[in-house]
Amino acid sequence: MSNTIVIGAQWGDEGKGKIVDLLTEKTDVVVRAQGGNNAGHTVITDGVEYILHLIPSGILWPEKSCVIGNGVVMDPVSLLGEIDGLIAKGIKISPDNLRISDRAHLVMPFHREMDAYKEAKKGDSKIGTTKRGIGPTYGDKVDRIGFRLHDLVGDPILFIERLNARIADCNVLFESVGMDKLDAEAIGRDLLAAAERLAPYCADTVEILHRDMKAGKSLLFEGAQGTYLDIDQGTYPYVTSSNTTSGGACTGSGVPPHKIDRVVGVTKAYTTRVGEGPFPTQNDTLADRFHKMGREFGATTGRKRRCGWLDLVLVRYAAMVNGFTDLAITILDGLDDCEEIPVCTHYELDGKKLSLPPAAAKDFERVVPVYENLPGWNCDTTKCQNYDDLPENAKAYLARIEKETETPVSMIGVGPARDQTIVR
Ligand code: GDP
Ligand code: IMO
Ligand code: MG
Repeated sequence: MSNTIVIGAQWGDEGKGKIVDLLTEKTDVVVRAQGGNNAGHTVITDGVEYILHLIPSGILWPEKSCVIGNGVVMDPVSLLGEIDGLIAKGIKISPDNLRISDRAHLVMPFHREMDAYKEAKKGDSKIGTTKRGIGPTYGDKVDRIGFRLHDLVGDPILFIERLNARIADCNVLFESVGMDKLDAEAIGRDLLAAAERLAPYCADTVEILHRDMKAGKSLLFEGAQGTYLDIDQGTYPYVTSSNTTSGGACTGSGVPPHKIDRVVGVTKAYTTRVGEGPFPTQNDTLADRFHKMGREFGATTGRKRRCGWLDLVLVRYAAMVNGFTDLAITILDGLDDCEEIPVCTHYELDGKKLSLPPAAAKDFERVVPVYENLPGWNCDTTKCQNYDDLPENAKAYLARIEKETETPVSMIGVGPARDQTIVR
């Protein structure tokens, strides 16, 4: 029995879904502990592509259990749509293999409206959110006015009373800024219908996870977003609203830190970011190249991802704050046709060398990335099955990452399919 957390080391979309899918084979329970349907995790198995938003990627393994923990924010209608979509693709989903925390907070239609409105109002300083209502839902949670799953399924009458009062408040606000008013009756009807279907999934998942651990089962925590979207450690305010770093897996599931044995950091062999905010190594030529190949489009919103070279300042700090025991380097094959590969080893800011990221977004915008050019390997790695099959320059690239981050590389992605991962 051993418990593992998988965490993105950059700005999300590092390929966590694929790594979680790979590690699921040797685990019993896959847990999501933070974020919501802002996440989009791609898994390709037997030639079929699945994009998971709220449901743990482990659901694709019929004999495994999945848990949506207390730290997740959950849009009930969207979740049911995701369940139905997966069932239509032949995936088995029932309360036998999916349980949802009774303490998970609910994303309501007014949260989505507020998200869109706040973004529009920010104009050029917008965050570039996924508009899934994530920030306003976590905001209400911290403000202690949120709605949790047990409110909806446990006491629908009181839930509707509270909902109507909240929507009446929202409507005063919405009207004052020229937004359409919400129809409380229709929203209540949709949520009550969702409640009926979700009730069998609602459970005390803390108790379930502790019972599973006592029975010797192993847990795999599927991080959503990435270290630099973390509300505390990320490029604030250009972040999401949850703790995406490893500590969030514990608070968001009720599993204490001493039960964690392994923390896998997932990083692309280069860097991407979707949404606004600082990105020191951004390189539009690299982005154009990937976009022309049909790569690097957001799995949730379809937006073009910004692309750039590997930033070791980011991965170094991510290794520190998450306590990475090992690294999974994904999309190494994305660099197959490069003659030379620039990697950023540190930044300069006002003449000073920085080996770790600055706190302020405005400083992050001003840092000058300092690169070292590493030789490319200029050949196809997508058929490599073992570490020894990799070209020498690719091995040297990986060794350099290990040295700079003081973390061993345990997995290497050389293509999107389940079997295109080298395990060392
Ligand atoms: P996640 O949010 O971290 O799970 O990542 P996404 O699914 O949003 O984005 C990662 C993208 O890279 C997806 O399209 C994956 O299919 C793809 N991918 C993952 N690992 C590899 C790899 O090693 N090579 C290639 N070419 N694609 C990969
Ligand atoms: P996965 O799990 C990449 C980004 C948004 C925006 C910021 C805030 O697939 O890696 P939010 O809707 O959360 O309030 O948006 O965070 N973002 C992601 N970027 N991958 C994700 O998830 C993301 N989830 C949110 O683009 O910049
Ligand atoms: Mg993604």
